Amino acid sequence: MNKKIAVVGAGNVGAAVAQYLAEAQLADVVMVDILDGIPQGKALDLTQAGPIRGYNCRVTGSNDFAAIKGSDIVVVTAGLARKPGMTREDLLNKNAEIVGSVAAEIVKHAPNSFVLIVSNPLDIMTYHAFKKTGFPKNRVFGQAGVLDSIRFRTFVAMELNVAVTETQAMVLGGHGDTMVPLPRYTTVAGIPISELIPADRIEAISARTRDGGGEIVKLLKAGSAYYAPAAATVDMVKAVFSDQKKVLPASAYLEGEYGLNDLYIGVPVILGGKGVEKVIELKLTADEKAMLHKSAATYKEFLQIIGY
Ligand code: 2OP
Repeated sequence: MNKKIAVVGAGNVGAAVAQYLAEAQLADVVMVDILDGIPQGKALDLTQAGPIRGYNCRVTGSNDFAAIKGSDIVVVTAGLARKPGMTREDLLNKNAEIVGSVAAEIVKHAPNSFVLIVSNPLDIMTYHAFKKTGFPKNRVFGQAGVLDSIRFRTFVAMELNVAVTETQAMVLGGHGDTMVPLPRYTTVAGIPISELIPADRIEAISARTRDGGGEIVKLLKAGSAYYAPAAATVDMVKAVFSDQKKVLPASAYLEGEYGLNDLYIGVPVILGGKGVEKVIELKLTADEKAMLHKSAATYKEFLQIIGY
């Protein structure tokens, strides 16, 4: 039997995830959404792209959560997206309701799956899914750090006019205004960017990264980014599927690491066949640690709003 990946939510992000997954030919893909005809229509459209794009995996769509049965990974993109002027946290209550009910369906139909959360506010929704599924922490994780770090890498490459593939970046903290880009761990072909870019420009690039999603929301006027979020998501799915043991930033459950407890937040992890196999504890400066703790304190407050 083919492996199977479920994508919950067939909006812009879900559809782009399904497209990149099909092109990666990792597994059959099933899209589920409550909107009548949308997952079916997008799945059929993607299937018809297969002869030219060169994939044979099955892409199907359904309004019935039973369709996720047997999925190895469930990617959750369901929820409202931001409009201009909104923060990710403005989506809190509505998306908590949506992600909570999706979690119940995952428990029912795909109890052995990995759950990759993409819905915003990301770190809160990942915690919520962890609590609602009751799955072990290694099987529930959130995509955000990969997106934030590819944004950081893009801006570094634009600044230096170098190949983006030569860049590496690390971004910690919540996926929001309190995120913590780490220039000290950001390099071009192994060279720290502090040796290549003046400090004020590094600060400007870090600020642009922090506002990376908002910049796109402002340009699009309706909805938020989806190509880069989907690319980041599929990178994480591949790491699990192919047991790549990639070191990347992800929203992971902390139990004492970085001096933080009982929350999900962006930290470097090893992502492989067992999901989050290890949280890597970087040595942070006092300033970096303070920023991470400030980010964590904000998220603790948001968790209280939805009853934790
Ligand atoms: C972003 O940063 C949608 O949160 C996503 O673009």
